[in-house]
Amino acid sequence: MQVPIHVVVLAAGKGTRMRTDLPKVLHRAAGRTLIDWVLEAVSTVEPARTVVVVGHGAEAVAATLPPGVDVCLQEPQLGTGHAVQAALATLDGIAPDDTVIVCYGDGPLILPALVSGLAGRSPGEAVRMVTVDVADPGGYGRILRDGAGSVVGVVEERDASPDQLALTEINTGLYAFRAGDLIEAIGRVEAANAQGEHYLTDVVRILAAGGKTVTTMDADPVEVAGINSHDQLASAESVLRQRINACLMEAGVWMQDPGRTYVDAGVEVEAGARLYAGVHLEGATAVAADAEVGPDTLVRDGRIGRGAHVWYSVVRGAEIGEEAEVGPFASLRPGTVVGRRAKVGTFVETKATTLAEGAKAPHLSYLGDATVGRGANIGAGTITCNYDGYDKHRTVIGDGAFIGSDTMLVAPVTIGERAVTGAGSVITEDVEDGALAVERSPQNQVPGYADRRAARRRVEEADQST
Ligand code: UD1
Ligand code: CA
Repeated sequence: MQVPIHVVVLAAGKGTRMRTDLPKVLHRAAGRTLIDWVLEAVSTVEPARTVVVVGHGAEAVAATLPPGVDVCLQEPQLGTGHAVQAALATLDGIAPDDTVIVCYGDGPLILPALVSGLAGRSPGEAVRMVTVDVADPGGYGRILRDGAGSVVGVVEERDASPDQLALTEINTGLYAFRAGDLIEAIGRVEAANAQGEHYLTDVVRILAAGGKTVTTMDADPVEVAGINSHDQLASAESVLRQRINACLMEAGVWMQDPGRTYVDAGVEVEAGARLYAGVHLEGATAVAADAEVGPDTLVRDGRIGRGAHVWYSVVRGAEIGEEAEVGPFASLRPGTVVGRRAKVGTFVETKATTLAEGAKAPHLSYLGDATVGRGANIGAGTITCNYDGYDKHRTVIGDGAFIGSDTMLVAPVTIGERAVTGAGSVITEDVEDGALAVERSPQNQVPGYADRRAARRRVEEADQST
């Protein structure tokens, strides 16, 4: 039986090198905040409690945390040891044999298997910690071992001797402690170091000196990398995207170029969907089987139906029905519903508009606050004039209506079923079912005009040359 697990996530630091006011752990990678990625990974070991230690930007960080996660304010921030001590104070009902996992909120690449490895600490281990061997250990705490190879402590870069600086086994900051040992040792940590901080790493030295068992486990250095700069954030994002894409392809999604396919965490893509290069799928987006998306398409909070085709377009808060066609160069804004086999074509913008099954708006239109009936055809250049400068008004177009090219539909206005509007009309009044509405001045014909004009021109040119 595994003992209860308590997780402490350290996230009080400022993240100075990000050079932004946003708390570091709230930067996003592949659709989630850094801390969300960490919390998701640790949640897989089903902790009894998870405490996030916040400090810089405490309120902003606390506001984003999922329910069930506790917050501990560390103010001021006196070091990693001090942070863990603060967290322990909020963990009531903790038993000495329980496990306390400590990790960082800025390490989004950690995977569930590594957390499980930590959670597998055996009862005799006072601490199991993750260490890795790296070519460039600069900036990290170095692991100190005795002649027999046992860990005796961790020395921070600033406190290290030249010999210690040459060590390449580093502390990742991931630990699983036996709660009783952690609590006992952390009370003895002092700030006798170059930074005047309470180092959590001192706990390791105290435990080892007290004859307790300190073990280490290995990890992929990529997985334990912390984010301190935008450069590292971009690298982490790329790793997360690779993981998401690999998972989708494994599940049967076709990708033309995974390196140029940007799918956020939480997006659903069904097996058999096809994603061309330059596709961005964000937020609460779902793509059904056999749909084709891209090239170069952004979908944010959009649902794309089975067999639909969307290319070179921007889709936000919109629903696209089965076998519908969108693009190229369409902009679907929130509240758009494109029905089954309907079409929204080149340079068409829609907002809060429903196109029923088989309705088509193939070219150069703006459809806002409109309802378009089944099989209706919207001619090129049609505009719903939905805004009068103060309020928005609706346009209703009946089933089978034929809207002539360049019709201005001045809302509120209703076009009846199978009604027709003449090209270039400005429609301000409702059109009844089956009627034709034309609004334009009669065409005036002037016979022989071109010849008379040419003659006039010849006379002018002759005058000028004399
Ligand atoms: C720490 C370790 C070092 C290890 C490295 C791995 C210590 C003393 N050193 O160094 O051995 O190699 O991590 O990345 O632990 N934090 C708080 N409150 C504080 C101080 C820090 O919550 O008072 C949080 C920070 O937000 C950060 C994490 O703890 O996420 C690490 O803190 P930081 O001061 O950056 O430690 P490092 O110098 O990186
Ligand atoms: Ca006109």
